[in-house]
Amino acid sequence: MAKATKSFSCTACGASFNKWSGRCDGCGAWNTIVEDTPLSTGPASKSLGNKRGSGIHLTDLSTEEAPPPRTHSGLGELDRVLGGGLVPASAILVGGDPGIGKSTLLLQAAARFAQSGLKTLYVSGEEASAQVRMRAQRLGLGDAPVQLAAATNLRDILTTLETEQPQLVVIDSIQTMWADNVESAPGSVSQVRAAAHELTSFAKRKGVSVVLVGHVTKDGQIAGPRVVEHMVDTVLYFEGERGHQFRILRAVKNRFGPADEIGVFEMTGSGLAEVTNPSALFLSERGEPSPGSVVFSGIEGTRPVLVEFQALVAPSPHAQARRSVVGWDGGRLAMILAVLEARCGIPFAGLDVYLNVAGGMKVQEPAADLAVAAALLSAREDAALPAECVVFGEISLSGALRPVGQTENRLKEAQKLGFSTAIAPAGGKAVGGNNLSLRQFGDLTEFVGDIFGAG
Ligand code: TYD
Ligand code: MG
Repeated sequence: MAKATKSFSCTACGASFNKWSGRCDGCGAWNTIVEDTPLSTGPASKSLGNKRGSGIHLTDLSTEEAPPPRTHSGLGELDRVLGGGLVPASAILVGGDPGIGKSTLLLQAAARFAQSGLKTLYVSGEEASAQVRMRAQRLGLGDAPVQLAAATNLRDILTTLETEQPQLVVIDSIQTMWADNVESAPGSVSQVRAAAHELTSFAKRKGVSVVLVGHVTKDGQIAGPRVVEHMVDTVLYFEGERGHQFRILRAVKNRFGPADEIGVFEMTGSGLAEVTNPSALFLSERGEPSPGSVVFSGIEGTRPVLVEFQALVAPSPHAQARRSVVGWDGGRLAMILAVLEARCGIPFAGLDVYLNVAGGMKVQEPAADLAVAAALLSAREDAALPAECVVFGEISLSGALRPVGQTENRLKEAQKLGFSTAIAPAGGKAVGGNNLSLRQFGDLTEFVGDIFGAG
């Protein structure tokens, strides 16, 4: 085994030597040469050894720099999800199922950003330029100053970006890009990773904002953009149910703004239209109160949104009763059913349970627990909740109701939309307005007894 070589360096000028001497040949100083201590104590063959790097320039946290200038697209829903506009040199991933409307959204966004002065390039790896142009015509964006390209070779694209120097680049989609130094086929994990790495580091180096489109399949089989999520600053998911025209753009990671912010759009014949008052939209078909239907006053990101939970409970013809959930977490539903049974003595055994969030919305907040419990009970007892009533609150395993954040915003939104009653956990900030009566309960049994009579 090779003997680890010693190395020496001068503390005055930093010159390095492989043997000690009294005077530095570099700067002429005396008694400044010392033996280097190894950088690492790991095994000699695997460690960094004695070889020293150069010092990194350190700074402190105080800064004179202004916050990054943000460009607004004018699409308020998109700007808010981005954290208040587009940040220069940021890398953004927009994921979503095929056909959900990613290309439509990004073409519209590219056009808006170009119109507000950013030099914008749209690279399509899936559609020919003529196809993109036709879509732009149909969306009424034919005169937007967006430069188009249909390309998939990463080397060609980076070369073009270097000469064109755009401020915003849309890559549609990352799965179609291929780097010629990577052996595997386009769409494979190593290609997607390589392409995303090259594009994001290019973005940082040259100050270009890059938007990457990525397909996710329901079963996550294809090398999804998941591997890319770590590399980018912002991850947005574009979701919606097929058959519903509503689309929700959700920030799941954002280094430049709040995560969990949503933007709501509607797919129309002429592209995506902003929905600035989503509560009104998700509740638009409300008539007489019906059993199993409960309105939840939720918070999505920074904004209150009212959504309707619908439950159906029916005797099960099967040996094992069904629990089916759309738009809410199945595990959480099981928990609420268990709490209702254990703490309130209301069994759901032998009953099929279906739970749905109206309008294709997905709810993730635990604050919806009480609304779900209310919908389940209302369906089971075939008794509608009082009309014009919103419900929110978290349920703990003990059956206690826990106050949730932003009570005031939830109540304000309910009041704004003409609701007259709110059911909430006790202990939350009780503000209740002039025409909104607030009913608070400490635990689930109390709530069940009061609203549905028997326990
Ligand atoms: P697209 O943006 O191509 O989806 P993705 O890029 O996510 O695969 O959108 C495709 C769907 O959008 C398609 O089913 C048709 C519909 N659509 C409209 O309803 N109106 C429109 O104006 C456009 C452009 C598309
Ligand atoms: Mg597309």
